[in-house]
Amino acid sequence: MNVLEVKHALKILGKKEVVRGVSFEVERGQLLAILGPSGCGKTTTLRMIAGLEIPDYGEIWIDGALASRSQKIVMSQKERHIGMVFQDLALWPHMTVYKNIEFGLKTIGLTRAERQKRIEAVLGKVNMQKYANDYPARLSGGQQQLIAIARAIVTEPNRTYAKSVAEAVLLHSEQVVSG
Ligand SMILES: Nc1ncnc2c1ncn2[C@@H]1O[C@H](COP(=O)(O)OP(=O)(O)OP(=O)(O)O)[C@@H](O)[C@H]1O
Ligand SMILES: [Mg+2]
Repeated sequence: MNVLEVKHALKILGKKEVVRGVSFEVERGQLLAILGPSGCGKTTTLRMIAGLEIPDYGEIWIDGALASRSQKIVMSQKERHIGMVFQDLALWPHMTVYKNIEFGLKTIGLTRAERQKRIEAVLGKVNMQKYANDYPARLSGGQQQLIAIARAIVTEPNRTYAKSVAEAVLLHSEQVVSG
C-alpha cells in the first residue's frame, strides 16, 4: 500500500495557481525528493500533505485513507502523524534544545519521565546529547538542522517530511547511521 498519494493537487494562493495538478505516490520505505526552481510550489505541496494548507482541487491520501479533498480537510493535522522539518527550521530562539524538542511531545500526553527518555534517545540519534541545554543561537547551522530533525522525529510520526534536499539527505544518512 502507498503511504502517500497526491492526486491532481492544485493550490491557488493570492490569484496564482502555485501548485498545478501535481500527482505522485510514495511507497513505505521510499525516500522521495521533490526538486524544482525556487517558487515552483514544493513547500506548498508539503504543506498540503501535512494538512497546513487545503488543496483547492485534488486529493491527498495517507496510508490508504482520504486526508484532504478539494477545499476540504478530512483528516486533521494531528491525525496525519507527520513530522515536518521546516525550511527555516523554525526553532524557538528563547527555548533550549531540550525545550524545543519537548514542546511537541507535550501535545501527545507523555509523562515528564517519558519525555526525558525520548528526548535523550533522539538527541543520541543525531549525536547532539551535549547540547541539550544550549540555545539555538549557540549552535552551528548544521547542528540547528539536526535539532529540527530531532524535533520532527521525536513524536515518532509515520513520516518525516524534509523541506530541503540537504535535510532529506541528512535524514537519510541519519537513518543509515542508526541502522
Ligand atoms: N501565503 C502566500 N500567499 C501568496 N502567495 C504565496 C504564499 N505562499 C507562497 N506563495 C507563492 O507561491 C509560490 C510557491 O511557493 P513555495 O513556497 O511553495 O515555493 P518553493 O517551491 O518551496 O520555493 P523555494 O525553493 O524557494 O523554497 C511562490 O511563487 C510564492 O510566492
Ligand atoms: Mg520551499
